[in-house]
Amino acid sequence: MVVPDTPALILAPMEGLTDAPMRAVQGELGAFTFAVSEFLRVSAVVPPAHVFHRHVPELRQGARTPSGLPVHVQLLGGDPGRMAEAAVVACDAGAQAVDINFGCPAPTVNRHDGGATLLKHPKRIREIVAAVRGALPRDVPVSAKLRLGWDSEDAIFENAAMAAEGGAAWLTIHGRTREQGYKPPALWCPIRVVRECLGIPVVANGDIWSLAAFRRCREETGCIHFMLGRGALADPSLSHQVARELGLLPAAPPPTDDTPVDWRPPLTRLLHWTECGPATSPGRIVCRFKQWLKIASLYGTFTDFESIKRAQSVEEIFTLLGRPVDRC
Ligand SMILES: Cc1cc2nc3c(=O)[nH]c(=O)nc-3n(C[C@H](O)[C@H](O)[C@H](O)COP(=O)(O)O)c2cc1C
Repeated sequence: MVVPDTPALILAPMEGLTDAPMRAVQGELGAFTFAVSEFLRVSAVVPPAHVFHRHVPELRQGARTPSGLPVHVQLLGGDPGRMAEAAVVACDAGAQAVDINFGCPAPTVNRHDGGATLLKHPKRIREIVAAVRGALPRDVPVSAKLRLGWDSEDAIFENAAMAAEGGAAWLTIHGRTREQGYKPPALWCPIRVVRECLGIPVVANGDIWSLAAFRRCREETGCIHFMLGRGALADPSLSHQVARELGLLPAAPPPTDDTPVDWRPPLTRLLHWTECGPATSPGRIVCRFKQWLKIASLYGTFTDFESIKRAQSVEEIFTLLGRPVDRC
């Protein structure tokens, strides 16, 4: 939960990346305040409880990962009534906080009246947030995650005001329009303006790849609440570095060398938590490993992706990383 004067560091929802096993890993090895689930789409039919439990298995364990990291449930959809009903089902299934997605740029999602398409309709944002807020007990916070706009960066001012008017307890803003996709750089300045105008906390998000980028983002936005997505996966130490700066972890002396990241411990934990969940084929696990290491090579310092990308098994990947797999 995000409250005004207490810093927070949030693990971003990333569909296909930050699923339950990855959230479990980040809960153990990261330094986050909470995580937000990948979006659950609310289309013609309100998803029943078992769908929430499959999508966010943490709901059966007090909405926390095995190590205790709280997980908020994210909903995506354009119909206020169905979104409200879905939020109630989510809470009955165990959700303790609900986030609403107004940022997904995927064409299929947008064609079906969900995600970033709602940024073209500020009043609908207010209606959806108000409907969800009104349907839930007061102690369940409702938040909203927005991009700056559909094609205009200025749209954030009205959209954010509408989400706040609808009753969002806080907003997360990814500093890009839908049209900008993931093209760098993210724009952080509008986040400052929204934060200064609205009376609710604002979480800054987008392109925090390093401690230096975090410091620039904090400077430009004036925020004390941050969300890390790809940067946290690319560099497993980033959440710790940022959490220290935010005072969420005790200060530590700066690192004295550039020791490369040892990817075996996080991958071993991902393997463990994947094997604890529903049956997953060995091929799928290999894909998950490659997906994570690809992010580390694109945005971090991992240099061996070329050799890993042809690997056929988990064992082969660990051997290429320097040591046989050590299941735990
Ligand atoms: C593969 C992928 C999947 C994503 N899925 C979601 C999602 O389910 N819900 C959401 O609100 N944002 C989603 N996002 C957006 C991220 O939460 C975040 O806003 C974006 O990646 C910018 O932050 P970053 O630069 O720290 O990664 C996704 C991003 C990526 C790259």
